[in-house]
Amino acid sequence: MKKLRIAVLISGGGTNLQAMIDRSLAGTLDAEIAVVLSDRPGAGGLERARKNNIPAYCVDYKSISASAMLDAKILPDMEELDSRQKILRNPDPVQRLARLSSLVLAEKELIRIIDSYGVDYVCLAGFMRLVTPYFIGHFNGGRKTESGGGEAAAWRILNIHPALLPSFPGRHGYEDTFGYGCKWGGITVHFVDEGEDTGPIIAQAVYPIWPEDSIDNIRSRGLQLEYEVYSQALNWLAHDEVEIRDMPDGDSRVVISDPRYRDILNTWIGKAFL
Ligand code: GRF
Repeated sequence: MKKLRIAVLISGGGTNLQAMIDRSLAGTLDAEIAVVLSDRPGAGGLERARKNNIPAYCVDYKSISASAMLDAKILPDMEELDSRQKILRNPDPVQRLARLSSLVLAEKELIRIIDSYGVDYVCLAGFMRLVTPYFIGHFNGGRKTESGGGEAAAWRILNIHPALLPSFPGRHGYEDTFGYGCKWGGITVHFVDEGEDTGPIIAQAVYPIWPEDSIDNIRSRGLQLEYEVYSQALNWLAHDEVEIRDMPDGDSRVVISDPRYRDILNTWIGKAFL
């Protein structure tokens, strides 16, 4: 059975990371966590990694952004990168380029570390930073095809989002779902593209929101599903059960070919009611 090598990027407590570690140790996740990276030194997930002898690094975005000057030579063509990015919306081009430059500077360091571990996938798990087309292009940009011929574009970055996309993108999925008065909440595992939480959806699960619920209740209900669904998505990738179809409009759609697909979704629904 093939095992994936993954890098996990975190910013906070890292309970998704812990779930991956636990499942990997238990043999129910067909992936080895090769390296963990955080954008801030205090992230609890770094400690979880070290306790399990997983190499863990911090690329301190805060200090990088404080020291980053607007330096057009960070990449030969920052303007071109700026024209492709969809996430920084500051109308002032000088400020926008400065911000983009500092992100790219940090991403260069992330990439250097991740590449030294030779991973198949990069998993964002509560990583609270925007990733630029520079980072995305590096991992998705192209791989040798199986026939050894040209380069095929690949989707190699995953994210877990705490809402049922395309509803409630952004940083506050649980709060937005709860605040809107939704009667069902959801979580989404998707590939990362250049938009904000817009990449092709791999898997989603839903949970009920009861009249007496609080934000804390629904977050813990959702998190249990996050752990389950993220691991399952990785297992589908490990088993080559994730087919990516390019649509005529240029979008991509994911189709899961696991024969147990319906049963698995049924167990998620069962768990959401516990
Ligand atoms: C999760 O809710 C995840 O969906 C979101 O950030 C949170 C991270 O939690 N992107 P943890 O650090 O894994 O506990």
